[in-house]
Amino acid sequence: MAEKDNSSAGKDYQINVPYSQEAFFLKGCNHLDWGMQSRLSQIFNPKTGRTVMLAFDHGYIMGPTTGLERLDLVVPELAEDVDCLMGTRGALRNCIPPTYHKGIALRCSAGSSVLDEDMSHEIIGVDVEDAIRLNASCMAIQTFIGAPGEKSSIENLCKTVDAGNRYGIATLGVIAVGKQMERTTKFFLLATRMVAEFGAQIIKTYYCEDFEKVVAACPAPIVIAGGKKLPEADALEMAYRAISEGAAGVDMGRNIFQAENPKAMARAIHKVVHDGLDGKQSYEFYLATK
Ligand code: R5P
Repeated sequence: MAEKDNSSAGKDYQINVPYSQEAFFLKGCNHLDWGMQSRLSQIFNPKTGRTVMLAFDHGYIMGPTTGLERLDLVVPELAEDVDCLMGTRGALRNCIPPTYHKGIALRCSAGSSVLDEDMSHEIIGVDVEDAIRLNASCMAIQTFIGAPGEKSSIENLCKTVDAGNRYGIATLGVIAVGKQMERTTKFFLLATRMVAEFGAQIIKTYYCEDFEKVVAACPAPIVIAGGKKLPEADALEMAYRAISEGAAGVDMGRNIFQAENPKAMARAIHKVVHDGLDGKQSYEFYLATK
């Protein structure tokens, strides 16, 4: 039985102080439940509202990609320099120490390999229960707007959003560019808006011309994929432009782990995303660090 608390001295209800009603720091995420916001805070740094995600899920379509031949050696080494790891459940279970406590973006769609001419017919390869067992912060689903598998990829996305909403895990909608699509601003405006309207809480897309318009029209935070390997200075400049035009972060793979010095590159990207360095300053930082 609780003890009686008869003492009226020493209590201060601060009745003149308005109750704290802070808005959540991420665009479009104010109405989400506590659990989902908590998981999003594992991915995005609440101080800057941004994230550096390391994508290393390439093996699910490409096998042992250059730079990722040994996941167990490469990824834990880079993990300390990024906010979130994006990988498959096999890679996580086999190669990432469970003592890692930052964000996890779990690759949950699965499909055919790069040997297939049309890779747009994916399935949901990981269900929400396994995502929870892996303590995932969000579930990543590939969408193929304008490709033959468009409709089924949207079905995968919507089912995952529904499951994620039930359990408090966000869905990261990844915009894939099918072979038949061109990387135009018009395409990215369409695709990002669609995927956000289907309920994805985070959108991953490519940087493009007039990127500010893509950000403005998308009601959810956008992170950019790095794409094919660029010279380090160009990749840093692209990251800088994306951030200065409204991206909430980067989800970069090859431009980090295929860099001449991956660790220095991860740190330089971090400087752009969280510390306001521009492309030139961050490249100088990269050269000095490597
Ligand atoms: C590819 O299918 C994956 O979604 C990658 O995570 C994505 O392409 C990002 O990696 P990168 O920066 O190498 O393009």
